[in-house]
Amino acid sequence: MVTITGIDFKNPTMLASGIMGTTGASLLRIAECGAGGVVTKSIGPEPKAGHPNPSMIKLECGFLNAMGLPNPSYTEFDNEIKTVRSGTDVPVIASIFGGNAEDFVKVAEGLADSEPAAFELNVSCPHAEGYGATIGTDTCMVESITAAVCDAVDVPVWVKLTPNVTDIKAIGKAAQNGGADAVVAINTLRGMAIDINSGYPILGNRFGGLSGPAVKPVAIKCVYDLYEALDIPVIGVGGVSTWEDAVEMMMAGASAVQIGSAVHESVDIFSDIASGIELFLQDKGYSDVGDIIGLSHEV
Ligand code: DHB
Repeated sequence: MVTITGIDFKNPTMLASGIMGTTGASLLRIAECGAGGVVTKSIGPEPKAGHPNPSMIKLECGFLNAMGLPNPSYTEFDNEIKTVRSGTDVPVIASIFGGNAEDFVKVAEGLADSEPAAFELNVSCPHAEGYGATIGTDTCMVESITAAVCDAVDVPVWVKLTPNVTDIKAIGKAAQNGGADAVVAINTLRGMAIDINSGYPILGNRFGGLSGPAVKPVAIKCVYDLYEALDIPVIGVGGVSTWEDAVEMMMAGASAVQIGSAVHESVDIFSDIASGIELFLQDKGYSDVGDIIGLSHEV
């Protein structure tokens, strides 16, 4: 078991915010498959249809997606959270987004009644106009949005950071100064793919967020830097698809790992990774996962 920001997780794996978190039923399925926690798809202040197709493509090195933050808005999604909560004890974290602090507060307050274990602020969507691409790179916005949500809710607030910045430590510190209980790193890396026959960018939105194995080394470095710069826990996400990846992320400084792209290969990934970590700890003679968190900073 691991405890992060006062929440107990039966193992250090969680579903990352994304496509598998769009309904209560899919979140429940992932929880039943062994995830230590589940994070919803990001929910906003108004219903949003999202970007035109194609909105997700598979590349050799991962996925490129620009869904466009499709969601039914907080007024509809509270029922989805209630569905998961009524079927499992696995903590449900509500990912939320908005264009400014008022939006974030409105969504957080609107979902509070469904009692998520924590809120994860998506200030880092790489492409949705007016949302993460602009606010998550601005230390003042990150600090003020974080502070506003922390004031408005009485559960932990996690802030998901973008790697599309020169200095992720500065953004992490802004979240910490705003009162964040943890940071989550990284959201997707901005990317593009072009069809060479037509010359058109393939995604309907032209560009999107890259996830999967290609981004793992970027995520490891960001987690490593944040662990060094901050006093709050860092939750690692980006290209984790094996228990070895999870151990590496934890050695960089992650208290737990989130898994997104690799879930599309198998829903058993959470229990596979959790047992792989356990066996590794036993094999190496560690008594607890705490023994490997940030280990790479000590050697
Ligand atoms: C979307 C949101 C994200 O935060 C991200 O990293 C990639 C895609 C989206 O809904 O388009």
